[in-house]
Amino acid sequence: MTLKDQIDTNKVPRHVAVIMDGNGRWAKKRGLFRTKGHENGAKAVKQVVEACGEIKIPYLTLYAFSTENWNRPKIEVELLMTLLISSLKKELKNLQKNDIRLMAIGNINELPNKVLKELLEVIDKTKNNKQLTLTLALSYGSRQEIIKTIQEISLKVKNNLISPENIDDSLINNHLYTQNLPDVDLLIRTSGEQRVSNFLLWQIAYAEMYFTETLWPDFNKEDLFEAVLNYQNRERRFGKTSEQLN
Ligand code: FPP
Repeated sequence: MTLKDQIDTNKVPRHVAVIMDGNGRWAKKRGLFRTKGHENGAKAVKQVVEACGEIKIPYLTLYAFSTENWNRPKIEVELLMTLLISSLKKELKNLQKNDIRLMAIGNINELPNKVLKELLEVIDKTKNNKQLTLTLALSYGSRQEIIKTIQEISLKVKNNLISPENIDDSLINNHLYTQNLPDVDLLIRTSGEQRVSNFLLWQIAYAEMYFTETLWPDFNKEDLFEAVLNYQNRERRFGKTSEQLN
């Protein structure tokens, strides 16, 4: 039986988030420039998006560029931006064909104009697609997102639009970049690192963590299916006891 056949399609995680790590090491191992790692990383993105479509995962969020990534060498940042534009241009047709909606989270106004324009165009053109919501975290940092949320809520309190007692989970959710997304069920990080690196800190409160040694450019459909199977074999208790769940 294939890995995919073993997956219980009624119990797939609703929201999978991925920290795509190891592009640089993948390239270095082959004596290639780091940028080659990112180019092959884009191929892995395609694999994972297709795999999510096949097993009907409705939300996939990818950490494509962190606020800290702006500090990388200029040439690498430029390549990543160029890669983003070319992937967006190239994949629009596939997104439409497969009913995939593109969204972005992060301080996207910091992106170069050319990238932002292409991104907003694809977001707009795919806004009615329903099968899968693919969210790219771009110029994203979770603490920065939480600070922005606190600032917006404080301003509302100051202007007497809400009182402090009104601040609850759902109010905070409604101010995060991820306001239209459900909580993360499964967080995957590749390349053997076991860190969260300022990604979706609020949203992963109850997420299952899956770490794999596989470097991101090598990550394929089978790897995604394996992560989902691993997730399905865990018991999620949300603070309750096993007996309460049964
Ligand atoms: C981490 O590997 C990866 C990134 C910082 C960029 C992720 C980008 C892509 C996968 C390609 C483009 C994405 C899309 C959506 C088209 P690293 O460079 O930190 O690797 P290292 O830790 O081995 O150096």
